[in-house]
Amino acid sequence: MERVYIGKTKDVYKQEDGNYLLQFKDDVTGEDGVFDPGANTVGLTIDGAGKAGLKLTKFFFEKLKDREIPTHYIDATIEEATMTVIPASIFGEGLEVICRYRAVGSFLRRYGKYAEEGQVLDGFVEVTLKDDERKDPPISEDALRMLGILTTEEYQVLKERTVQIADVVKEELAVKGIELYDIKLEFGKDSNNQIILIDEISGGNMRAYKDGEYIEPLKLQKIMIS
Ligand SMILES: Nc1ncnc2c1ncn2[C@@H]1O[C@H](COP(=O)(O)OP(=O)(O)O)[C@@H](O)[C@H]1O
Ligand SMILES: [Mg+2]
Repeated sequence: MERVYIGKTKDVYKQEDGNYLLQFKDDVTGEDGVFDPGANTVGLTIDGAGKAGLKLTKFFFEKLKDREIPTHYIDATIEEATMTVIPASIFGEGLEVICRYRAVGSFLRRYGKYAEEGQVLDGFVEVTLKDDERKDPPISEDALRMLGILTTEEYQVLKERTVQIADVVKEELAVKGIELYDIKLEFGKDSNNQIILIDEISGGNMRAYKDGEYIEPLKLQKIMIS
């Protein structure tokens, strides 16, 4: 199998049938050994992080399938920490769409003059560019259109889908008494030009709290799937 991409937390292979295989690694994002889902460097390696991330991803992508929300998910093999997916073309060189329910992380760092830590944000959506060199800058709808990264219609679909998907995750966490503070999603287009959710949904790309206390990715997996 041909390896087409080496990512921070996953490697991507192209299968003979044309589908992609995502290999989940034990590397997680963060800085100086401290986990941070918003970071764009590998901060540390945690035994079992890859499988835990895949278990949660499988769990959430199957929930989305039940609700007929289109994603790249085909199947997953937990023992191997691999997931087979539909290959998608990405927007520009990659976007991240964030849905925020409470003010933490980079939102608070940027808007701390006007927002209080933990303030309710009601499913606020923002887009950032995947650009490690420039620290994943936020980008407005106007700039996305002007730079030819998204059309107005595509932006609308992305925004609506993001809220819809984040609400599903929020609901599922709530079943276990966990509150979703924020989540980061990625989208692409399949061969029919349909916009689909790609990548992963795991503790590595969301902030989840229980009784006001942050829950680490591995613990989140254990609580959600026991
Ligand atoms: N279905 C897909 N089609 C194409 N690219 C995908 C798909 N799913 C995930 N990817 C990409 O594969 C990479 C996964 O590796 P990851 O370690 O998360 O990368 P990164 O370091 O860019 O965050 C990401 O860049 C993601 O955009
Ligand atoms: Mg990633």
